[in-house]
Amino acid sequence: MTKDNSKIAIEELVREDAVQELERLALEIMRHDKLYHANDEPEISDAAYDALRRRNLGIEQRFPDLIREDSPSRRVGFVALDKFEKVIHAIPMLSLENAFSDEDVHDFAKRMRKFLNLPESQKLTLTAEPKIDGLSLSLRYEQGRLVSAATRGDGATGENVTENAKTISDIPIVLAGDNIPDVVEIRGEVYMCHAAFFDLNKRMEAEGKPTYVNPRNTAAGSLRQLDSAITATRPLNFFAYAWGEMSALPHNTQMGMVEWMKACGFRINPLMQGFEKIEELLKHYRKIEKDRPELEYDIDGVVYKVDDLGLQERLGLKSRVPRWAIAHKFPAEKVWTILREIEIQVGRTGALTPVARLEPVTVGGVVVTNATLHNEDYVKGVGSKGEVLRDGKDLRVGDHVMLQRAGDVIPQILDVDLSKRPEGAQPFEFPSYCPVCGSHAVRDVNEKTGKADSVKRCTGGLICPAQVIERLKHFVSRGALDIDGLGDKQAEAFYESGRIADVADIFTLRERDARSLKKLKDVEGWGSTSVAKLFDAIDVVRDTDLYRFIFGLGIRHVGEQTAKDLAKTYGDIETLNQAMLDLGNPQTYDELLSIDGIGTAVAEALKEFFSEYRNLDVWNRLLVQINPKPVEQAATDSPVAGKTIVFTGSLEQMTRDEAKAMAERLGAKVSGSVSKKTDLVVAGPGAGSKLKKAEDLGVATTDENGWFKLIGRE
Ligand code: IVH
Repeated sequence: MTKDNSKIAIEELVREDAVQELERLALEIMRHDKLYHANDEPEISDAAYDALRRRNLGIEQRFPDLIREDSPSRRVGFVALDKFEKVIHAIPMLSLENAFSDEDVHDFAKRMRKFLNLPESQKLTLTAEPKIDGLSLSLRYEQGRLVSAATRGDGATGENVTENAKTISDIPIVLAGDNIPDVVEIRGEVYMCHAAFFDLNKRMEAEGKPTYVNPRNTAAGSLRQLDSAITATRPLNFFAYAWGEMSALPHNTQMGMVEWMKACGFRINPLMQGFEKIEELLKHYRKIEKDRPELEYDIDGVVYKVDDLGLQERLGLKSRVPRWAIAHKFPAEKVWTILREIEIQVGRTGALTPVARLEPVTVGGVVVTNATLHNEDYVKGVGSKGEVLRDGKDLRVGDHVMLQRAGDVIPQILDVDLSKRPEGAQPFEFPSYCPVCGSHAVRDVNEKTGKADSVKRCTGGLICPAQVIERLKHFVSRGALDIDGLGDKQAEAFYESGRIADVADIFTLRERDARSLKKLKDVEGWGSTSVAKLFDAIDVVRDTDLYRFIFGLGIRHVGEQTAKDLAKTYGDIETLNQAMLDLGNPQTYDELLSIDGIGTAVAEALKEFFSEYRNLDVWNRLLVQINPKPVEQAATDSPVAGKTIVFTGSLEQMTRDEAKAMAERLGAKVSGSVSKKTDLVVAGPGAGSKLKKAEDLGVATTDENGWFKLIGRE
């Protein structure tokens, strides 16, 4: 029986008692660490805990040769590391080729037989074991003691996580058994069990901290903590399955090596087995796949390896993967669940996205509660390219839906069980109004095809709370109003503090601030000088260029060039205003469309924008505050001044852009289409319908040379 040495003063301990006392303290301190960090249930006070650690240290100082490998003074380094050192792997850590079907596995075996010139009659034993979905770790032991633990990194260089690895109880600090080679590198997978993952997330949630997505990410995050005290609170596990540098190989088969690792004190996967026939191997794969949901940890396939190490050696490597191993991946996991609700989310660009709220299910190791439904068509069973989805079955609230999640991919709804559709379930009606601001929502027109896109967007860009911050930032940005001292940060802060709710409010800031009790100059980061400067800078842009103002509105498809085209065409804000408010009139709409560079997508976007009264409110308030400069009219004494010109066909002496710029410099308007209003059509070779239309309408036409002659530049 061991006697109780805990009361004996350090100075009075004899060597033999010290050995026992150090062992007791190591176990006791480890137990308290776990209670404190992992369970959040300390049994003793901090002072009592400190006393245990001090006693341990004191004994170690008296008997330095008795310091245990697992001593609390070494283990759980409560050492905070600055950053991880790099470790160059003595032998690179490889990755594996993937197989996705039985056929791939047969091919793998055939390839190896061919490479080795091994006839079918000669046996080729393969091992099969689960592919653990964690992160690989390489543990280096010298003279049986753990000297370093390194992550895989890029395979050649990893990170030194030794202190953290020491906190994992599956990792022995000293190898068990005799005849341990001088240098042993054990490789395997660090992972977290489902129960531990859920527990940890519960704790995180209770502490108001963000929760983790899946056990693999959690394991990776836990192992790469700079403070090993935190790693110690994360219950991690380790399976040994491979090796790196070895000064001697204790066995000549994969199976033998893994059994030996077990004898050294590692945990090995109990599902590992050897097979001589591929059919048997595949049966084992199917068994593991069937048992997968009951396993305590995530796996994503089965790894097959050639058992004979001599053959492994002969097969060697092919780039960064061994020829003697392959990972047979599981198909993405599929589960059934119930679609509880379809919610519409509005993104920063105003896109309305339907989101499925699901009865929570675990799939691919993650609890899934939501899935994106992309757009209106997707809910109906039509893909983005018009293809049929789910055999064309639409999605209705209450439906039983089949979910798939592969790797980190967003979960997808693959199927609907119509036999379980609740009676009276109605087709989903996609809203025509933005659920956030109530503005009308329309389907975009695709710039290239001119057809309606699948995305529906809120048209209340200037006021929609979902979009307004982005709009504000855009409005004050370089290419737009470019207000000195009012950038992204300030725009966001002004919105958050309620100083500005939309772009028009920027121009009343000075006046409102004068009346306000909480003056801007008293806000942190501001002072009288900076505020005065800001208000002056805002005043400066009241007569900004017309195109900057148009561009600043952030209307869909209206980029800087389009804004310039619009400004040039309409010339001043009054004319622009009149035209924009009259886009319901086919003639005004056609005039807009006839501007060179403006197609249906832009025209439709402008029409939508100016038919939303919520935008008009902001627009009108803006017009009270600001007065953009009219566009400087180009030369009026040129022969083409004031004329409407259309360029068509291929021009040979100038590009289309050059031609346009030249005509505009000379005071002409360049249009993209021919109408009665056209004064001249300049037609190059290959001109077709536009030239014909001009001739039909009796509009004057000329060729490129005629054009140069006309403008006096022969
Ligand atoms: S063997 C030379 N066995 O899969 C072969 N890898 O895609 C070295 N993995 O980085 C790997 N379980 O992190 C092997 N039973 C297992 C595995 C396994 C998981 C991971 C490992 C590796 C990756 C390769």
